[in-house]
Amino acid sequence: MKAIVYKKFGTTDVLQTVEQPRPTINADQVLVKVKAFSINPMDWKIRKGEMTLMSGSKFPKYAGADFAGIVEEIGSSVVGIKKGDEVFGVIKNMMKEGVSVEYVAVTSSLVWKKPADIDFQQAASIPVVGTAAATAIEKMGNIHAQTTILVNGATGGFGMFLLQLLKQHSANVTAVTGTQGVAFAKSWGANSVIDYTKEDIFSHKAAFDIVIDLSGKMGYKKAKEIMKAKALFLNPTPKAIEIPASIFKNLFTTKKHLVILSRPSTKYTGVLLNALRNGLKIEVSKVFPFAHYKEAYQYAEQGGYIGKVAIEID
Ligand SMILES: NC(=O)c1ccc[n+]([C@@H]2O[C@H](COP(=O)([O-])OP(=O)(O)OC[C@H]3O[C@@H](n4cnc5c(N)ncnc54)[C@H](OP(=O)(O)O)[C@@H]3O)[C@@H](O)[C@H]2O)c1
Repeated sequence: MKAIVYKKFGTTDVLQTVEQPRPTINADQVLVKVKAFSINPMDWKIRKGEMTLMSGSKFPKYAGADFAGIVEEIGSSVVGIKKGDEVFGVIKNMMKEGVSVEYVAVTSSLVWKKPADIDFQQAASIPVVGTAAATAIEKMGNIHAQTTILVNGATGGFGMFLLQLLKQHSANVTAVTGTQGVAFAKSWGANSVIDYTKEDIFSHKAAFDIVIDLSGKMGYKKAKEIMKAKALFLNPTPKAIEIPASIFKNLFTTKKHLVILSRPSTKYTGVLLNALRNGLKIEVSKVFPFAHYKEAYQYAEQGGYIGKVAIEID
């Protein structure tokens, strides 16, 4: 089978395709013929060597964490899934494994049946950012129509799920996006939208109960300016030191800083599938064929896209 791998850290230049045997499966795994996998910023952060504390430096490495496809084989102890099922899922160790392959072996507890009314690219877009968004909502606690929430970087994959989940919860949401995202942010339920190329969000002093930064460019220190006295900052892009530091500092401040980690599971997938049934839409704005993988990663890394970018395999 074909696989996209890299054998050293670097730009998309280090990506290459190789031929390798199909993986064999354990009793609790399924083998899935991959039809699509989605691109996440984590893919290139790992490839550029920015996450070695978690990813390690062992090569070859593969790209991608969430995928959709057709079940080819099932392990002897697997129940509830059969050969031929259309499924989506995520690999267990997102930092060390990858799904940029024609066939992937995965733990059956991280594979779910694909709803018939979404395609493989849409399904492959759910686990990582969908779970991150559902986790963010959990961390927000008791939100209601008067809770003012700022979603900075609102029209990538994470923001697409978060805005629509927030809409189903009801809250007063301000989305910050580039010009091309304004109409999407409105259609996904934001009460107001700020185009970051035209308006400075930092003019909204002490305006928000919750700020979540999906751009990775704001940071807690800056965010405090626009947070109310007892507000919450949610951070999905923490530096390693911020994880323990935030726990300690939160003991002494009324403004709180919480880190978000996406750990896909049947619980979160259930929340997301329910939201889909209630009208959540998954926008995959660009799909690349497998052979154009370098172009796909270059495109995604540049930014400026809406929702998700995916790679499909024939
Ligand atoms: N902790 C976790 O478990 C976890 C899970 C999933 C994702 N993440 C992280 O969460 C972040 C968001 O994920 P994603 O998949 O949604 O990434 P994404 O698709 O790249 O979205 C990021 C968004 O930020 C916007 N942005 C860029 N510069 C901005 C600025 N100056 N002000 C406001 N917005 C700006 C981008 O818009 P333009 O492209 O138009 O500039 C883009 O829509 C990423 O850093 C990702 O690594 C963490």
